[in-house]
Amino acid sequence: SQRSRTGIAALAAALTSLALLAGGCTGAGGVRGTPGAAGLRDPLFPKLGNGGYDVGHYGLTLAYDPASGRLDGTAEITARATQDLSAFDLDLAGLTVRRATVDGAPAAYNRAGNELTLRPRDDIPEGKEFRATVTYTGVPEPLTDADGSKEGWLRTADGAVAVGEPAGSMTWFPGNHHPSDKATYDLALTLPAGLDGLSNGVRTATRTEPGGRVTTVWHTAEPMASYLATVAVGHYETASATALGAVPVLTAAEAPVAAGSAALRGEVPGILARQVKRFGPYPFSAAGALVTKDGTLGYALETQTRPVFPAGSFDRTTLVHEQAHQWFGNSVTLASWRDIWLNEGFATYAEWLYDEEYEHVPARTHFERAFAQDANWAFPPAAPPTAENLFDPPVYQRGAMVLHTLRETVGDRVFDEILRGWAAKYRHANASTDDFTAYAESVAGRDLGALWDVWLYGDGRPDRP
Ligand code: ARG
Ligand code: ZN
Repeated sequence: SQRSRTGIAALAAALTSLALLAGGCTGAGGVRGTPGAAGLRDPLFPKLGNGGYDVGHYGLTLAYDPASGRLDGTAEITARATQDLSAFDLDLAGLTVRRATVDGAPAAYNRAGNELTLRPRDDIPEGKEFRATVTYTGVPEPLTDADGSKEGWLRTADGAVAVGEPAGSMTWFPGNHHPSDKATYDLALTLPAGLDGLSNGVRTATRTEPGGRVTTVWHTAEPMASYLATVAVGHYETASATALGAVPVLTAAEAPVAAGSAALRGEVPGILARQVKRFGPYPFSAAGALVTKDGTLGYALETQTRPVFPAGSFDRTTLVHEQAHQWFGNSVTLASWRDIWLNEGFATYAEWLYDEEYEHVPARTHFERAFAQDANWAFPPAAPPTAENLFDPPVYQRGAMVLHTLRETVGDRVFDEILRGWAAKYRHANASTDDFTAYAESVAGRDLGALWDVWLYGDGRPDRP
């Protein structure tokens, strides 16, 4: 935040930045760029993300001091310009920017709300890859979502847990924070000695810094939407295993909940093996789970490769749900937040399928229970009316009912082919509700418009299930 500056200094800085931002628009190569858009016009979050470039990789170097809550970071963002660019935005909430460069040269920058605007010295021609670095510091503040839940960098007594659905990742690193711009990540996390740090993907190095602090380095090899990035800092106990013959599994739990969660953490490889049979190849090169003490976050989240659970929500059904998201949400990622049922409806249906196959509860039983509940009919799953409704019952339960109705309409064999084919066709990509309905119709070989009209888009409960 720049609020701590004195009025005059802030005004002078703002005027300088504005002058720089509004300056000439001819680059060294004679390119005349225009500023990238400040948002991607998401139907529910119009200002999330930014136009004019596409991120390929984030290199995050973070040092955290739990005692003061202070985070020092450098984000090195490798991106490709999708237009001739004179300036571009990154999303960043709070924190103080110390320095910004583009391809090594200092860049002018300006803050307004959650937009950080960088203006490189030279305009960037369309198609060119460039590297932006932002050095920043401060005490990250969590965000309160429209539904009242907290996300972002959540502080604990001895550390922190970072979760970011839908927008919390902007509280701890600048980026293109819309799920349509996925990227690979390297994250180096430096902590005081005696504390454990965890993140997504594979831990590639652990080193002790001069002075005794310890750095762990985490590599996320497959594209990841920024809302799925996580960091956990505190006193954790870890366990390693292998899944599917080759996938390293790392689970971790805060010390007081380590013993109580160990048995279920040990089920991660077995559940993954069952899900692979149903959904097709596991899309990632790492797996695991993070279990935190209750009281830090109020929900589990499918953070990529390593979902995070408050201990009180770490049960088999929730584990099945968050692991199913690795296919549905994390690999096949929603094109916009309005498509949230493609995440939650699928992960909920994955619970029903698991119960049917391994717990002797037919999916039809779940369907009928959900059908009877009034709360599931508040709005159609493909059209959540506001950001406040993103995680409401219709998205989960009625989303799963859409899939069950599809299954009863096309039959088990075709439905299985749709589920696996969907995960395969859009693996590591983005997809919308229209992509799904078109794909399902192409596999089924018939028009399913009447089904979508009632189950995906229709208001209220239909006459009979
Ligand atoms: N995606 C999470 C799940 O697996 C839920 C996230 C809820 N987030 C929130 N801010 N309320 O169900
Ligand atoms: Zn979910």
